[in-house]
Amino acid sequence: MQANDAIAPEAHWWLPVAAVGELATDRPLGVTLLGQPLALWHDGAEARAFTDRCPHRGARLSLGRVHDGQLECPYHGWRFGADGRCRHVPALPDFVPPTGHRAVAWALREAHGLWWVAAAGAPAEAPHAPPLLSDLPSRRLLCGPYDVATSAPRVVENFLDTAHFGLVHEGWLGARDHLQVPGYEVIADAHGRPGVPDYRAWQPQGSAAAAGGAWVDYRYQLLSPYTALLTKKGVGDAPQEAYALWTCPTEPEACRVWFTIFTSDDALPDGDLLAFQDTIFRQDRPVLESQRPRRLPVSGGELHCAADRLSAAYRRWLQGQRITFGVC
Ligand code: FES
Ligand code: FE
Repeated sequence: MQANDAIAPEAHWWLPVAAVGELATDRPLGVTLLGQPLALWHDGAEARAFTDRCPHRGARLSLGRVHDGQLECPYHGWRFGADGRCRHVPALPDFVPPTGHRAVAWALREAHGLWWVAAAGAPAEAPHAPPLLSDLPSRRLLCGPYDVATSAPRVVENFLDTAHFGLVHEGWLGARDHLQVPGYEVIADAHGRPGVPDYRAWQPQGSAAAAGGAWVDYRYQLLSPYTALLTKKGVGDAPQEAYALWTCPTEPEACRVWFTIFTSDDALPDGDLLAFQDTIFRQDRPVLESQRPRRLPVSGGELHCAADRLSAAYRRWLQGQRITFGVC
């Protein structure tokens, strides 16, 4: 874990690193968060996250195996318990490793079908827990992962951007004869994060269930530097459908992306809902990966127009939070 004065502002959030189903109980899984390789593994009772580096000679623990509820390094077989402490050195079977012989353990928890890591290492240093989103429809589907060759903030900004709908998602989320972005108001939530409570868009096929073009009312919310939520309103503004964007900032110019679809529709098969979201993101992806710089410019260098006020507010907010990973 990092010393307090070394914690980057983005590390104060819990961030998603893998889908729950990706982690087997009998072998570790290597992931990367904020440039830091981590080894996830299951001790038989709980999932754990260690820095993916053996303290003996620096081998990757994620190349090892799980043995008797301990993580075994692939190189010399040192075994580490759930708390990170070394429990066994095969070359010296009678040796009792001192408490300082340990791998670095990170706090890990499950939310929305994903494993989340306290990016600062310990929960006390990462006060921003995964969002609960308990008021959204209970049918929930996880879509992804997508490994994307751009920064996580570029992906979040794209998620908040509506002016591309009629071009990138022509015939789906927008139409060329409806390119105008209506006036909308950016309002900060109780935590100061920018969002748009009311946004109206004409969408030819706004969801997997849509039976043709319609005006759709949305709410956009930023959840963290790297996650956001789009809620489609139904009767009386009650959430009818929502899409959460979860990005894991793996490297400054690369990220891993998932979406959770929350829907009150109980008729459409899972495959149709997942295929819709997959189609939309595959339309976004080539444009996203073409943007230069890959890091999101938060202090100038790109032109804005009035239709961009939500993404401009996102950039200002990142700057105000002193986020450094994935921006320039
Ligand atoms: Fe891990 Fe030697 S490098 S046991
Ligand atoms: Fe898009």
